[in-house]
Amino acid sequence: MADVKTAAKTSMPAPVPVKGLDHVAIAVPDLDVAVAFYREKFGCTVSDIVEVETQGVRMAYVKLAGAKLELMEPLNEASPITKFLERNPNGGIHHLCLTVPDVVDAAGGAAGAGIRVLGDGKPAKGYEGQDLFFMHPKDTLGTLIEIEEPNQ
Ligand code: CO
Repeated sequence: MADVKTAAKTSMPAPVPVKGLDHVAIAVPDLDVAVAFYREKFGCTVSDIVEVETQGVRMAYVKLAGAKLELMEPLNEASPITKFLERNPNGGIHHLCLTVPDVVDAAGGAAGAGIRVLGDGKPAKGYEGQDLFFMHPKDTLGTLIEIEEPNQ
């Protein structure tokens, strides 16, 4: 707790200045079942299903008041979600997506702070064209964290 207070008082910007939560991503073995579950059991509004071949996933978004849930099903064996579901056959929380004011600055800040940026170390384009990057979970207390700029 003392560390949190100290960090809040400092005037130096943090290397990755997080402002908000964009989404929590949940890997599921069957996306159609998951979409029906959130619609019928929880009364949520769920987006149409989108296929993102570059990421090897089918996805749908559950719209919530302050954030979204990203439901992800692997498209094929090579999908990164396939391995996750081998370890977690019922599905489970896969990553968090937090927002920063400037994603390019944040990627540089992460690298400078010793937090590995996955891939080639630079932000990549998401399926809606937004810039984003993931950080190595071993450098972020065991949680896979995605960083994006908030949608305007
Ligand atoms: Co995500």
